[in-house]
Amino acid sequence: MFTRLASLAGVRPGHRVLDVGCGTGYLSRIIAPVAGAGGHVTGIDPSAAMIGHARDRAPANCSYQVGEGQALDFPDASFDVVVSSLAVHHIPADARPAAAREMFRVLRPGGRVLIAESRPPANPLLARLAGPLFGAAMRHDPRDLLAGLLPGAGFTVEDDGELPIMLYYVRGVRPA
Ligand SMILES: C[S@@+](CC[C@H](N)C(=O)[O-])C[C@H]1O[C@@H](n2cnc3c(N)ncnc32)[C@H](O)[C@@H]1O
Repeated sequence: MFTRLASLAGVRPGHRVLDVGCGTGYLSRIIAPVAGAGGHVTGIDPSAAMIGHARDRAPANCSYQVGEGQALDFPDASFDVVVSSLAVHHIPADARPAAAREMFRVLRPGGRVLIAESRPPANPLLARLAGPLFGAAMRHDPRDLLAGLLPGAGFTVEDDGELPIMLYYVRGVRPA
């Protein structure tokens, strides 16, 4: 699933990639070999414990810092790709538009953003069970969470879709 996300994000050798809400750094470690020695993956997360875990396992072309998606501590246009998996629903609802604007600001024109969130199963019975079994993130359709977020920040939505298991993604581009 995470390998597919890395591929959908369109990371190429030499790219500078930002992982917002990187947690333990799992996705960033999958992206790191694709960006290669000439590229770099930066992960940010507000949890110092998560960042410590990610740093302990960091490949040479990955670095991590404590930070929040709604206040990114990076210059304008400093990344080619921004990814965020299972993290946007953790950002307070009133701060999500600011987080999307920050993703737009730090991406170069033509750069891409890929956001992935959990989705309830398609089967109605399983969907009813998903909330109690897997928690709040599974109770709501992520389309409601993400609809309008990227266009509202200036992105053009290029693609969206479902991935097994129980994942929804949306990809946008910062117009050149
Ligand atoms: C379910 S984890 C996902 C971690 C990782 N992206 C993954 O897919 O394994 C959600 C992460 O979002 C982070 N988070 C919470 N509030 C955030 C914020 N305001 N900005 C960025 N990340 C945040 C949490 O600390 C947590 O590490």
